[in-house]
Amino acid sequence: MKTIVITGATSGIGFAAAKALAAAGARVIGIGRSQQRCEAASEAIMSDVQCAQTVFICADLSSLSEVNAAAGRIKALLEPDGCLDALINNAGGVCSGYTVTPDGYETQFAVNHLAGFLLTYRLWENLKKAGGRVIFTGSNSHKKARIHWRDVMYSRHYNTLMAYKQSKLCNMFFAKELNRRFADSGVRAFVVDPGLVKTAIGGKQTSGIVQAFWKLHSKRGVSPEYVAKTYVYLVSQDPAPDGLYFHACRPAAYDKHVDNEQEAKRLFELSERLCGIRFVGSAVHGFANSNNML
Ligand SMILES: NC(=O)c1ccc[n+]([C@@H]2O[C@H](COP(=O)([O-])OP(=O)(O)OC[C@H]3O[C@@H](n4cnc5c(N)ncnc54)[C@H](OP(=O)(O)O)[C@@H]3O)[C@@H](O)[C@H]2O)c1
Repeated sequence: MKTIVITGATSGIGFAAAKALAAAGARVIGIGRSQQRCEAASEAIMSDVQCAQTVFICADLSSLSEVNAAAGRIKALLEPDGCLDALINNAGGVCSGYTVTPDGYETQFAVNHLAGFLLTYRLWENLKKAGGRVIFTGSNSHKKARIHWRDVMYSRHYNTLMAYKQSKLCNMFFAKELNRRFADSGVRAFVVDPGLVKTAIGGKQTSGIVQAFWKLHSKRGVSPEYVAKTYVYLVSQDPAPDGLYFHACRPAAYDKHVDNEQEAKRLFELSERLCGIRFVGSAVHGFANSNNML
């Protein structure tokens, strides 16, 4: 039985993927930020999927210390063999206004990118043991985006869309860099492009105008259940399929900028500093958190 961790499993794409993976026979460890929504999601999966093996962990991934605590709880659940077959870094959101996390980082950058970066690092040895997969929920909005190096956190002139697009480009760079740096690790990274999906994402940390736009716009989207099939595909294919970016169970074209190794390396190193960690070869090291790059 495969064990899969999925973040943002309380609604939308993450919930549908958690249910589809449980139905496909996987043991699913879901992460959500609200205890109540974790319980509701867990109950919904248990009632729809006979014999589902699902556990939920409550953690607000905007906080690095909560990411670390969640990783500790996951590791305990992975005992005795310690194998993790897939980590799906899916949690994400859109924030209309400039907000910062408890660590002082811009929220979209922190939740959509840094949380997945740190969780992957913490669970890396478990993924290696299983020859596992790291899957990000990306977006076509990474196309034509660039890393805003002068002010990665958009603290001076915040722009919701630019910050969101940047965070989705970060998912691409991180997946690409993991595959480059750790080609011999047995772990493979992928990014899913879900397309436009009917979820509540645009109605959560957003202004009234964004909410109204999203309500209309998302009606044209596909269902989260349709998107969930791509996660089941990427987790279950043996051997792992070639390619980085997948849409509807097929490799898809991504922005050529993602192949820029210097940018990917620079982002990787910045993310290490912001999380206070360092991926080194096969070993993992931690050091004091420092945000002096900002
Ligand atoms: N919908 C689309 O058209 C679309 C298109 C491209 C990419 N995406 C990506 O798809 C992913 C999932 O989004 P969705 O559309 O399914 O939206 P969603 O229904 O709002 O789901 C987002 C999930 O992430 C969780 N989450 C958000 N912030 C969190 C935090 N700080 N800590 C822990 N969990 C947190 C949410 O928890 P709550 O239930 O508590 O809110 C929810 O479970 C995101 O990465 C998004 O960028 C979506």
